[in-house]
Amino acid sequence: MSAPTRLAIILAAGLGTRMKSERPKVMHEIGGLSLVGHVLKAVSAASVERIAVVVGPDMPALVSEVGRRAPQASCHEQTERLGTAHAALAARPAATPVPDQVFVLFGDTPLVRPGTIERIGARLSAGADLVVLGFQAANPFGYGRLLEEGGELVAIREEKDASEVERQVAFCNSGIMGFSGARFLEILDAIGNDNANSEFYLTDAVEVARGLGLSVASETADEAEVQGINTRAQLARVEADFQARMRQQAMDDGVTLVAPETVFFSHDTVLAADVVVEPNVVFGPGVSVARDAVVRAFSHLEQARVGEGATLGPYARLRPGAEIGTGAHIGNFVEVKNATVGEGAKVNHLTYVGDARIGARSNIGAGTITCNYDGFLKHLTDIGEDVFVGSNSTLVAPITIGDGAYLAAGGTVTQNVPADALVIGRARQAVKEGRASLLKSRFRRAKEEKAKRDKEKG
Ligand code: UD1
Ligand code: CA
Repeated sequence: MSAPTRLAIILAAGLGTRMKSERPKVMHEIGGLSLVGHVLKAVSAASVERIAVVVGPDMPALVSEVGRRAPQASCHEQTERLGTAHAALAARPAATPVPDQVFVLFGDTPLVRPGTIERIGARLSAGADLVVLGFQAANPFGYGRLLEEGGELVAIREEKDASEVERQVAFCNSGIMGFSGARFLEILDAIGNDNANSEFYLTDAVEVARGLGLSVASETADEAEVQGINTRAQLARVEADFQARMRQQAMDDGVTLVAPETVFFSHDTVLAADVVVEPNVVFGPGVSVARDAVVRAFSHLEQARVGEGATLGPYARLRPGAEIGTGAHIGNFVEVKNATVGEGAKVNHLTYVGDARIGARSNIGAGTITCNYDGFLKHLTDIGEDVFVGSNSTLVAPITIGDGAYLAAGGTVTQNVPADALVIGRARQAVKEGRASLLKSRFRRAKEEKAKRDKEKG
């Protein structure tokens, strides 16, 4: 039998009023990726070939996020927000030609795993017409409750419509459902809006399907995977669960996390086996770290690549475009932006390297600054191999320093330096013997006179 054709409809038109935000709710982020981005990633990984996202009116940022994360997805506008079933029907055009399976997911439920979607798909393939994904909630307040009779799912009751007894039920609706493609529109079109909110609830699909004599089943997931986000507090809790998942994954992949709970990941962080990460490290989006590299405490990285065996930090900052070569050293209070640091090069202390190239084995002394910005444009600092840049050097870009050059400490270097040149870019030192005590007594007298004047003034 060939693989079933699948359509996923992701509901993301809600305003997210409870977030009290100007942004659409699903544009808030977990691990540096929008909520909707997480759902798009999960469905793409679950071999769902057609994706439809239901957006609200006037949500251009959301539409472009969908285009960025899943270019094959279509966006459908739900002009009035009349409930989750109404929202799913906004994607009606995507349901033709009729796929074998239709999944409905919520944009505000980001941590669902591809394997869970596959499990729902397997139940559909095995003959179910509707599969609801439920979970045992620690605090079920606000969720729809899955009501069962004799082990069979008979209805989903929303908080507002539930009786006291029904509210005691902890088995909750994740919002994720799978439909047999052939039955999807038939079920959805039969849903009405006779409830406390006068909305078309997707949850009514259960009673409708049973009324049509169809087969309804439930699957179960962990709360950590399917909890929804309606508030900022829930956003923070899901972030915490996501971080726990990423830390566990990194350790499973052979990464040493000295204090896992203090390391923060992005959705796309890639750490190779035998990388060591010390406490309090933050990985922003777009970071990869190769084997045997050590990221020491309090370092912050984003859109950066770290080569094999390199060491960073403590207190290193890698900004977008930082590429650290094999075995290179980036030390404390060093910031690297849009720059490549060659194999075995060392930038050990208190330095800014921006818009630069540093060749292999070069050593950049403490306090060196690449002056990359003239207030209007950014310029390149191109440092060759085996260069020695003395401490407290000011390199005014655009500038090229040839291979093997030696820059004495404290220089302001404004002109290109040929290979193997020695550069002393500072004022000559003047030494005046015996003059220190004279100078000090002059200053001491000045201080005494000032104190006298202040006293006279009262
Ligand atoms: C919903 C479920 C509830 C479930 C919970 C799980 C319904 C009626 N309720 O409640 O059973 O336990 O999720 O988290 O389905 N949306 C639209 N258009 C609309 C309304 C909603 O696109 O007209 C989208 C929202 O953007 C959101 C999702 O649908 O992504 C769910 O809507 P929300 O209002 O958050 O539903 P809950 O009250 O959380
Ligand atoms: Ca919700």
